[in-house]
Amino acid sequence: MEVNQSPEWKALERHFADIKQTHLRDLFVANPERASQFSLQFEDLLVDFSKHRITDETLKLLLKFAERCQLTEEINRMFSGEKINLTEGRAVLHTALRNKPTSPIFVNGSDIMPKIGAVLDRMRNFSNRIRNGEWQGYSGKPIRNIINIGIGGSDLGPKMITKALTPYHQRNLSFYYVSNVDGTHLVETLRDLDPEETLFIIASKTFTTQETMTNAHSAKTWILDHSHNPEAVAKHFVAVSTNIEGVQKFGIDPANMFEFWNWVGGRYSVTSAIGLSVMLAIGPDHHHALLDGFHAMDEHFHTTHLSQNIPVILALLGLWYNNFFGAQTHAILPYSQYLEDLPRYLQQADMESNGKSVTKDGHPISYQTGPIIWGEPGTNGQHAFYQLIHQGTKLIPCDFIGFAQSHNPLGDHHIKFMANFFAQPEALAFGKTVEELRVANVPLPLIPHKKFEGNRPSTSILAPKLTPYALGQLIAMYEHKIFAQGILWQILSFDQWGVQLGKELAGRIIPELSSSSELQHDSSTNELITRFRNLRKTGF
Ligand code: F6P
Repeated sequence: MEVNQSPEWKALERHFADIKQTHLRDLFVANPERASQFSLQFEDLLVDFSKHRITDETLKLLLKFAERCQLTEEINRMFSGEKINLTEGRAVLHTALRNKPTSPIFVNGSDIMPKIGAVLDRMRNFSNRIRNGEWQGYSGKPIRNIINIGIGGSDLGPKMITKALTPYHQRNLSFYYVSNVDGTHLVETLRDLDPEETLFIIASKTFTTQETMTNAHSAKTWILDHSHNPEAVAKHFVAVSTNIEGVQKFGIDPANMFEFWNWVGGRYSVTSAIGLSVMLAIGPDHHHALLDGFHAMDEHFHTTHLSQNIPVILALLGLWYNNFFGAQTHAILPYSQYLEDLPRYLQQADMESNGKSVTKDGHPISYQTGPIIWGEPGTNGQHAFYQLIHQGTKLIPCDFIGFAQSHNPLGDHHIKFMANFFAQPEALAFGKTVEELRVANVPLPLIPHKKFEGNRPSTSILAPKLTPYALGQLIAMYEHKIFAQGILWQILSFDQWGVQLGKELAGRIIPELSSSSELQHDSSTNELITRFRNLRKTGF
């Protein structure tokens, strides 16, 4: 039976019919305790979900549905290393990467914690050598530029965290992330850099990804063209991968490879060696604090009752809007310029995980699964797309993420900034009524335009400061929310077969673009390729 046929889902449907018109204004008036009742605090992190269109009854019914889906049991299965990634026959153990070394976790009968600890030790040693200038380029210069070449999970996570934790950087090192196979990305990144001071981290779980390998080969050519010395490769390239043969074949000494394992999904790999650039940027101690933050949230998720469990509550709220209110998207709105890349990172984490349309056992699904994730930091987004969130025809649940302390306490910037963080959820929830506009003497014809319906839901997430620890908590919170939603929707969140077909077709098209072979695609693709070939001939 599909979950949307279950009695628990049907009860939610009935409840939705009862409360879909209820306004947040009325819910707040009726219950002065609403803010504290619908907030959860974990350590220093406050998650206020009172501005959601829910009542006690909603939560009760959502939690019953979670129980029906055996969410607690499924959480335990993930943490214990069961092979829950069914189509790839793999365990899902990114949580082991930040587990305490003294708590064993077993995969195929062997404890994986010593392996994880050994790689972390090597990462620390390497980071210290780069950071203190002991590791030098082929001509004896210390490394100043670190370029991570990777894509998807081998790019978005380390890039996002490196930017987010800029205040903790060793500032004489510069960090760059090259992902796109568009040659522009690599060329523009390298343009002003000195190869003698540049280290490449080739980050690829599989070490076969076309974009990454193409960029890696071009980077190698850049170093060799400059150095005329094949031994320079050992000084300027390290790899992060699960594929030791691939790394060797590329010409990187396995001594310069940092390993991770196939029980770490690409988009969940930022706490593996994929985070090497992060450790280089912030140093081993802050990296340790980052992993501790992840671990603390892992523990919270693993051990806390569903009703008090932050990722679970966020997952259930997402389901409520996605499957009952018909919301198609979910906005991530960090009030921190340092978190500029968080929405993009969460796009992959969420959409590659839960963009599925068959159940675990392969049956087509008749209900909605993963939402479209998007967003921008405040306040920039306010001057771009918030209009639609406030007065458009679409319902867009939002996550507002803010911090009490700024790393850059410049005049009254942070006060103004955070005033917006508080104002936007308030405006979304409560709007502005016709009555209020009349009292303010707004001319009659303008009233429909100036009216804000309100009743637009959001979660406010408030932490003291964007520290490595707090960031770890925040990312793990989202990782686990995504996992929990996969369970509720009965889908497999840890494979990504949907990205394969495009890759295969591109592989077939590559040779066709530089030949005049007969094309056997559909008429549109044939015409487009023919036009491309002709344009290339004319030299434009
Ligand atoms: O886009 C598909 C994907 O497999 C992602 O899941 C992954 O993060 C990315 O490609 C990069 O893969 P790799 O780390 O193997 O180069």
